[in-house]
Amino acid sequence: MSELVVQAESIFRSLNREVWVVTSSSAEARGGLLATWVSQASLDPEKPVLLAGLAPNHHTTRLVQESGILAAHLLTQDQQELAWNFARDSGRTRDKLAACELAESDSGIPILQACHSILVGSVFAKVETGDRVYFWADIIEAQCHSNSSPLCEQEFIRWCDDSKKLILKEDKQGDVALQREGQSEFRQSLPSWLQFNGS
Ligand SMILES: Cc1cc2nc3c(=O)[nH]c(=O)nc-3n(C[C@H](O)[C@H](O)[C@H](O)COP(=O)(O)O)c2cc1C
Repeated sequence: MSELVVQAESIFRSLNREVWVVTSSSAEARGGLLATWVSQASLDPEKPVLLAGLAPNHHTTRLVQESGILAAHLLTQDQQELAWNFARDSGRTRDKLAACELAESDSGIPILQACHSILVGSVFAKVETGDRVYFWADIIEAQCHSNSSPLCEQEFIRWCDDSKKLILKEDKQGDVALQREGQSEFRQSLPSWLQFNGS
């Protein structure tokens, strides 16, 4: 690894982003994943918008593509086990919501009853970049159940024992290998409206 790669990785590792459980459902399936790539994407408080970056190979991503609806949940600081439930495996092989107490959002997708807070979004734009599908969503429901700070990535990773950390590492390496080609293809054939020409 070059010095630049080592330094960049070390800087990214020093961040401590919130972890979100993103759920969605279609007519036939439901699911959810753990995500750090969820962000406020609007300045105007009258029009709250959320941006989520999900991997194209993930089960939950397909559900969001199909339904156009996602729920992003922040967790309380003692919900590491719940975070782990959503961070591993694919919803194609295991119903990750089976062990959770659920409610139904007004838009019909499953939401977690016990969590820090929930934002439900209706997707209005999407960009696929090979390694990510970025969804911009108007927030159509919001529930806050806690005033304390939500669970963040570093506290979750500290909670994981060595065997869990190994599973997460292997999953991530698998995702990177799977997405490398798509990312490279995207960069070689950028749509004109996304090209940067320096002017
Ligand atoms: C700390 C952490 C952050 C993650 N962030 C994201 C993310 O922002 N987007 C994403 O698509 N996957 C992310 N993942 C990976 C997914 O949570 C994981 O691969 C999940 O099992 C996919 O589930 P699914 O295929 O059932 O949708 C993250 C995993 C961890 C441990």
